[in-house]
Amino acid sequence: MSMIKTENLTKIYPGGTKAVDNLNIEIEEAEIYGLLGKNGAGKTTTIKMLTTAIEPTSGNAIIDGYDLKRDKEKIRRIIGVVPQDLTTDADLKGIENLRMIAAFYNIPRSDADKRIKDLLDIVDLSDWGNRYVSQYSGGMRKRLELICGLVNSPRILFLDEPTLGLDVNTRSKMWKYIKDIQKELGVTIILTSHYLEEVDQLADRISIIDHGKVLITGTPESLKASLKGDVITMEFQSKEEADLARAYPGALHASLAGNYKVRMKVENSDTELPKILSYLMERNVSPSTINVKKPSLDEVFLEYTGSTIDDDIDPEQFRRMMQNVRRLR
Ligand SMILES: Nc1ncnc2c1ncn2[C@@H]1O[C@H](COP(=O)(O)OP(=O)(O)OP(=O)(O)O)[C@@H](O)[C@H]1O
Ligand SMILES: [Mg+2]
Repeated sequence: MSMIKTENLTKIYPGGTKAVDNLNIEIEEAEIYGLLGKNGAGKTTTIKMLTTAIEPTSGNAIIDGYDLKRDKEKIRRIIGVVPQDLTTDADLKGIENLRMIAAFYNIPRSDADKRIKDLLDIVDLSDWGNRYVSQYSGGMRKRLELICGLVNSPRILFLDEPTLGLDVNTRSKMWKYIKDIQKELGVTIILTSHYLEEVDQLADRISIIDHGKVLITGTPESLKASLKGDVITMEFQSKEEADLARAYPGALHASLAGNYKVRMKVENSDTELPKILSYLMERNVSPSTINVKKPSLDEVFLEYTGSTIDDDIDPEQFRRMMQNVRRLR
């Protein structure tokens, strides 16, 4: 039986934004499942519905056998949530934050303290439990946030953008902790991200979502393999030159990617690139830049959504992101 199965889960906000549009995903026990999508794709809204924070407009989900519509209380007991925005209180000590959560779940003090000790241990914060959160670095604070979602020993852990605002190094350390948590505690983890590398490194399976819809689901490897072929990007001096290149007959697919830029998909770049260059040379054209890419998750994302993931950050999102970054400092 799957741990989470959504059935046409849909959210239309007052005002008419369809944030999640008939979403169907199925998550197996003990897997790390990534929801990958751009700003505004509907990731947080999906998490909010699955964690009972907001009501779906239509559709439903079964979570560890419980019905999202009918069994909210039961679901709350078996899930842990680490929201996109920070929730710990910087004026309290790490341990005090964790005890507050334990009290909320009515966990007896001695059990709670044992649990808290174990959790601090997993994320290497044992020496920091008795220090004020205001003294933590950004990465430490995120680690604390991470274990806040585990105090009640959940079967499923929801992580909404677990590394947003962290620098690259701190981010990859977080991945290790998330993996450790999955291994040591056996929880099912569902996480959202708009960092391709993050889901590539962490997730057993991912769904790419855009405009509230699932575009494709699979293991990172299978998605990359599904692309079949390499991508060659070439830049030219004029539109005419670019058009000429685009007409190259040996391409699986070719399109303009910017004014004088051509993005071409070929079966195998090793054998095709020399042919492309001689085709162009015969026509007295030579590209000013050439870039060859074997399939990566970036390419998968581009293929299925039609744009790269870091295009067009919306201003409101950017403001929130920066606010978080400031709070992390
Ligand atoms: N409370 C709300 N009321 C109205 N519209 C909302 C509300 N929350 C989100 N939206 C809209 O719903 C859509 C999906 O938002 P959501 O926050 O779920 O996206 P996301 O994938 O989590 O994006 P991000 O990467 O910015 O976190 C966006 O168009 C957003 O503006
Ligand atoms: Mg979000």
